[in-house]
Amino acid sequence: MDKVEDVPLPPDEDRRRLLAGATAAAGGLALAGASAPFLASLAPSERAKAAGAPAGVNIGRLKPGELVTVEWRGKPVWILRRTPAMLSGLSALRAQLSDPDSLVESQQPSYARNPTRSVDREILVTVSLCTHLGCIPTYRPEPGSLQSDWRGGFYCPCHGSKFDLAGRVFKGSPAPTNLVIPPHAYAGAGRLVIGVDRSANT
Ligand code: FES
Repeated sequence: MDKVEDVPLPPDEDRRRLLAGATAAAGGLALAGASAPFLASLAPSERAKAAGAPAGVNIGRLKPGELVTVEWRGKPVWILRRTPAMLSGLSALRAQLSDPDSLVESQQPSYARNPTRSVDREILVTVSLCTHLGCIPTYRPEPGSLQSDWRGGFYCPCHGSKFDLAGRVFKGSPAPTNLVIPPHAYAGAGRLVIGVDRSANT
């Protein structure tokens, strides 16, 4: 199983302590579902949660098309490495989406208001809670697996909301908005940090 790593954050003693505690607790792993295995739970302290401790994840071994789940601030977060085919399909969906340009500001940081809703266009990082009533959608990457014109995405079995591979909600879904993109940045090649805003260096 992949390992959650500490990342080189600013030399702040308090933050170092939080990350050290999180790493020590990273043995407590949980499965999120057959199609979305948890990488690890950082299990920060209550104080760390209140401070919004960042989650550092090594994604160097994440394969194209592979999705993993990590926990950040008590919420499941998906990390998906999109394939070139997945990325090229995003632009064809505009007319079918409720908010194709991510205009609802609360759903992503400003730097993720772009066609792929990401910092690194290959890597989707999104809170995996349906924006209708909070169920966890399923990852349905296979074209045609949900309906004949399905290009791959996420399907919420609770009430039928559908999202594309950028987490954008399809028209007609009960979910009112796109999936939430959390603050995230890169601290080096293959080293993703969820919970901080920083200039991408990928
Ligand atoms: S909770 Fe997802 S569609 Fe209702």
